[in-house]
Amino acid sequence: MTVLDPHRTRPTGRHPSPVLAPLRSARTRGYVMCRPTEFSVEYAINPWMDPSRPVDRSRAMRQWEGLVETYRSLGHVVEVVDPLPGQPDMVFAANGALVVGDVAYGSQFRFPERAAEAAAVATWLRDRGVDVTPASHPAEGEGDFLVLGHVVLAGTGFRTSLAAHVEAATVIDRPFVTLELVDPAFYHLDVALGVLDDGRGAAAADIAYYPGAFSAHSRRTLRELFPDALLVSRDEALTFGLNLVSDGLHVVLPQEATALAARLRQRGYDPVTVELDEFRKSGGSVKCCTMEHHA
Ligand code: ARG
Repeated sequence: MTVLDPHRTRPTGRHPSPVLAPLRSARTRGYVMCRPTEFSVEYAINPWMDPSRPVDRSRAMRQWEGLVETYRSLGHVVEVVDPLPGQPDMVFAANGALVVGDVAYGSQFRFPERAAEAAAVATWLRDRGVDVTPASHPAEGEGDFLVLGHVVLAGTGFRTSLAAHVEAATVIDRPFVTLELVDPAFYHLDVALGVLDDGRGAAAADIAYYPGAFSAHSRRTLRELFPDALLVSRDEALTFGLNLVSDGLHVVLPQEATALAARLRQRGYDPVTVELDEFRKSGGSVKCCTMEHHA
């Protein structure tokens, strides 16, 4: 789907405008999600999780359904994988695998609490004709692997291992760029960096990130590869604003990320904010709840 909105087109000729945002366009996506019927915070495997703070599961359910509705109203296809009984984090579907076309690199969760999810997601994918290679090293799917047209950005430091980057690159058959995470609040790549445009359409690849989440060398790598990236402050990143899902035009992000939403608008995107705070109690938001089945 290409959206041609005259207000978004690049200003031409003798009508200079302060807004020089490129023309953005949306592409229809396939998303895999998992209903939060089992969602709770029973253990702490990241600094956001506090098992003594109760989760309101019916509120979580309502918020999750709102996210599904948002995607569908934008024209995207949402498929739902059944939650395994007793797996409170399975709602974070992004972690279950990395799926590109008809191949997938399965997950191997860092913590035993989530280990059972990997096989369930792999079976679900195989039933749909996807060729899944299980990970033989710790790997947490799209939590740490973000797919662009030309490369896959791969996080390590807390969850996904370096060895998994090499293995996943072989399975997916694309260049992988290793990025080292250093701040425990940003324990997965998808909470430190958001893909705004994957660069597979007319516009160039475009990302937003919080530099402080990365090692000095990885910051240099990001500067080198994405000199025009949108840089976000720690406070903005702590709203989970970077845990976003973009179709190239609409950027779905948590409603607390007001400053980021305004900056996205200036950049030519349509921010779509959602209420998802119940999942912050577990260290997750929009992207964590969403695995993209990349074309
Ligand atoms: N409680 C979950 C965990 O720590 C949250 C996972 C968030 N997922 C993500 N893609 N960042 O594993």
